[in-house]
Amino acid sequence: MVSPTTMAAVRKSGAVPNSEFLLSAEGVRKEFPGVVALDDVTFKLKRGSVHALMGENGAGKSTLMKILAGIYQPDKGQVRLKGVDIELKSPLDALENGIAMIHQELNLMSYMTIAENIWIRREPLNRFGFVDHAEMRRRTEALFTRLNISLDPEMPVGELSVANRQMVEIAKAVSYESDVLIMDEPTSALTDREVEHLFRIIRDLRSQGIGIVYITHKMNELFEIADEFSVFRDGKYIGTHASSDVTRDDIIRMMVGREITQMFPKEEVPIGDVVLSVKNLTLDGVFRDVSFDIRAGEILGLAGLVGSGRSNVAETLFGVTPATSGTIEIDGKPVVMDNPATAIRNRMAFLTEDRKDTGCLLILDILENMQIAVLHDKYVKAGFVEEGRLAADCEEMSRKLRVKTPNLSERIENLSGGNQQKVLIGRWMLTNPRILILDEPTRGIDVGAKAEIHRLVCEMARNGVAVLMISSEMPEVLGMSDRVMVMHEGRVTGFLDRAEATQIKVMDLASR
Ligand SMILES: Nc1ncnc2c1ncn2[C@@H]1O[C@H](COP(=O)(O)OP(=O)(O)OP(=O)(O)O)[C@@H](O)[C@H]1O
Ligand SMILES: [Mg+2]
Repeated sequence: MVSPTTMAAVRKSGAVPNSEFLLSAEGVRKEFPGVVALDDVTFKLKRGSVHALMGENGAGKSTLMKILAGIYQPDKGQVRLKGVDIELKSPLDALENGIAMIHQELNLMSYMTIAENIWIRREPLNRFGFVDHAEMRRRTEALFTRLNISLDPEMPVGELSVANRQMVEIAKAVSYESDVLIMDEPTSALTDREVEHLFRIIRDLRSQGIGIVYITHKMNELFEIADEFSVFRDGKYIGTHASSDVTRDDIIRMMVGREITQMFPKEEVPIGDVVLSVKNLTLDGVFRDVSFDIRAGEILGLAGLVGSGRSNVAETLFGVTPATSGTIEIDGKPVVMDNPATAIRNRMAFLTEDRKDTGCLLILDILENMQIAVLHDKYVKAGFVEEGRLAADCEEMSRKLRVKTPNLSERIENLSGGNQQKVLIGRWMLTNPRILILDEPTRGIDVGAKAEIHRLVCEMARNGVAVLMISSEMPEVLGMSDRVMVMHEGRVTGFLDRAEATQIKVMDLASR
């Protein structure tokens, strides 16, 4: 049914009534072995609007969008494009019908250049039938000018930061000149400034009549960019509303079906002796003279813009890229952090920011992904792995983290993004670390699970773990940290105590 007011709008626009919606899905069902990912779901996207999808990890958001992008076929239900029933048989089919999707997990080839990645399988050819690199470069530059992106098209994607790879993905999707653009958590790796940039691009596309689907876990983004939103819970469609009609609490209630009061349940715990002491740590050309201590029970937040060297410091601490100079002491003893094995032996744990490249072993199952850091350690007795005890502990951990899966033998690749992140957090918690380094720990994690992870981190701190937490999310940094260390362009620009730390002070230090 179309209401009289919208009918008028439709008539004015000159469109036929049943094409009020650019893209719609009705009665969609999708099952995977052991999981009903979508059950009788409805979704309707208007022209020239931004439609946000909200819901807990595993609610079915990505699955629905993969159906609309031709990656999965629905078991039941109908997809309509501009009022016409269609079946999208492949991603290429969807692209040819004007539907492009930017995936939650980035999909670029790291050994290829930016330009090659964008025009893959549609490379311009010269008259000899070879790829015309000059033309490809020119097209990329034109695209980047339009989107205000300043990157060299010839750069290999592998050398880009996660944020810049994200921008390339966005540019690639835009380059298809689609009517529908689906973005699955596009800002999970972006900082505020880059998010602003993306929002300018989105507003521009919207004003050209493009319909944008925007999956996010960030409430403030919803209010800033979305015209309307739909909520899913456990594979079911809950409802669609205009963003201006609701409050944050309304949405959370729709998402989780209950109230969440404590977002950052930071507890005061006794702070013990210095566990990790870092002096003048330097990685030539990347960061220099980084010095700090973390005590048992202390959570040191590390803030700064993307590119300020935060993740590089974490990688050096963990021995991934050993320092050129400076010292690392653990419990007062100097340690040469030459590789990750040394770090693990010193009971250090590191949750990396890049889930796909350095985190998940996609072809393995959940259990294997969880055990991997402890296999050679506390579960080995007389040369044998105590598999039963290990499996039981993994089960327990995944219950604690509320990992949504039929069982732990599911391939991790099949888990929703947020649930993959939970498995990785579980992996490191199982190692029973003394020092825990977290790089963007709650990226892609829904509100409920976020509170749960924060609670677990606090619990570890209470047990005497020294925590270094990198986060681009200001409420998380301010809410969780005992102290905040801020970096800018490879230098530490200051420390703020919990009591004095504010968003403005952090931002100020982050840009000095
Ligand atoms: N290829 C697959 N094989 C098996 N199960 C799958 C597959 N893809 C998704 N699922 C399951 O379907 C459910 C919905 O997953 P989906 O990725 O759509 O969630 P989501 O809402 O995008 O969550 P998140 O916010 O964590 O990204 C989950 O239980 C997931 O494990
Ligand atoms: Mg998802």
